[in-house]
Amino acid sequence: MEQKEDKLKEVISHAKEYGFVFPSSEIYDGLAATYDYGQLGSELKNNIKSYWWKSMVQMHENIVGIDSAIFMHPTTWKASGHVDAFNDPLIDNKDSKKRYRADVLLEEHMEKIRLKIEKEVEKGVKRFGDDFDEHQFRATNPNVLRNAEKIKEIEDRMRTSLEANDLEGVYQLIMDCEIVCPVSGSRNWTEVRQFNLMFSTEIGSVSGDAATIYLRPETAQGIFVNFLNVQKSGRMKIPFGIAQIGKAFRNEIVARQFIFRMREFEQMEMQFFCRPGEEMKWYEYWKETRSNWHKALGLGDNQYRFHDHIKLAHYANAACDIEFNFPMGFKELEGIHSRTDFDLKQHEQFSGKKLQYFDPELNQNYVPFVVETSVGLDRMFLAVLSASHKNEVLEDGSERTVLSIPPALAPYKVAIMPLTKKDGLPEKAREIIDGLKFDFLCQYDEKDSIGKRYRRQDAIGTPFSVTVDHETLENNTVTIRDRDTMEQVRVNIADLHRLIDEKVNMKTLLV
Ligand code: GAP
Repeated sequence: MEQKEDKLKEVISHAKEYGFVFPSSEIYDGLAATYDYGQLGSELKNNIKSYWWKSMVQMHENIVGIDSAIFMHPTTWKASGHVDAFNDPLIDNKDSKKRYRADVLLEEHMEKIRLKIEKEVEKGVKRFGDDFDEHQFRATNPNVLRNAEKIKEIEDRMRTSLEANDLEGVYQLIMDCEIVCPVSGSRNWTEVRQFNLMFSTEIGSVSGDAATIYLRPETAQGIFVNFLNVQKSGRMKIPFGIAQIGKAFRNEIVARQFIFRMREFEQMEMQFFCRPGEEMKWYEYWKETRSNWHKALGLGDNQYRFHDHIKLAHYANAACDIEFNFPMGFKELEGIHSRTDFDLKQHEQFSGKKLQYFDPELNQNYVPFVVETSVGLDRMFLAVLSASHKNEVLEDGSERTVLSIPPALAPYKVAIMPLTKKDGLPEKAREIIDGLKFDFLCQYDEKDSIGKRYRRQDAIGTPFSVTVDHETLENNTVTIRDRDTMEQVRVNIADLHRLIDEKVNMKTLLV
């Protein structure tokens, strides 16, 4: 655990040192759970957005993108259920005065039990070696079975209590599990209460209920209210999707773990409208498609797992998360939800406008069903950054910190370095940049020894470094160094564009 916390701390400090992420309003000591993306962070973020947009919109003929307003008519949030039901159950520890999400305390407790099971399995592997039958071990080992039964019991009780809004039951479960406050170590808990996560503000100069509007807690509703606008103006035929990238705001109770849980964050969401009854087919399709999208980044297939929701949101008939192995352990990265026709029907009811589709093949009007994919941009950023951050000991015993960011997402694609600041080498380097800058973000770097410059580029994840030396002036060749293998080869300047493009083009991820 301690090691994991150290890893997160290291990533946070690296992100700040190299201009990826800064605490927001830092000169005023920051604002809790709010962060600013720096010069390299905004490039990485834009590249992640571009990867998502290209894959979802550009590569799908039947998906289009929109950009809807953050402010929406307040009735939107009545209709969507957020005013009444977008709550988290919170609990305070009376000794530490710290506030927690009651369901998160229980999830973390179950995760600890799950880890005990994995330890038991590891012991089995060690004991039985090649003869180890993991499936049979999990099905028969008494310790594993007892702990699995414990988890099931907690899950069942938690689901029943949350679904019935039985906050007393959630409190009792926390007490029965003997969960202690991680700060004070005590079990001196308050009762469990519901807390609405939406931020509100007032529009115009009038105050009072009529003027209260909300900062959107998800981008999805901007898509639902535009369903017919897009379908009609774009002549879209079901099944089709509407995608959007944008800010969302939630007054999170527990806002910690860096950019994992923020109060202002960005979502990349897609609503896929389909025929009623076909939603489970599309739910499975999008689970697989989204899982492949993540895995194509090469951060390691074993870094992802699916987690089915215990408590379904008020709008869903099936839902799961794609979890990623963050420095804090496996946590939600993306949600895939089968939202039925709930949202469109609610908006029909509250607006009095029909939100239906005429299906020419069925010769019938209906309210489409929706499968949603929703991934947090900031969580994607943290996944990429934390999985890429490595401290390596090299063959000669020296050390380097490298960000092995997937090249298509790396902020700078290539650094061009004149060996010295004289003899026309800087001019030649700039000439090379002029030939590359239309397609690749290039960095010019002439300060310090070449070795130091390589380390600097490693630390910001630049896939290639190109050195311009005296031989370049004679025969138009340069050395190009690969960030990951650290191999250097001499190539013609005329070949640089192709060599870089082969590795950093977004196509490498999309095909
Ligand atoms: N429209 C569905 C929806 O909003 P969600 O599971 O509440 O579903 C989707 O959120 C994704 O948004 C999450 O998987 C996560 O990646 C991201 N997300 C949610 N809350 C967040 C927060 N406070 N900070 C950063 N990302 C968040």
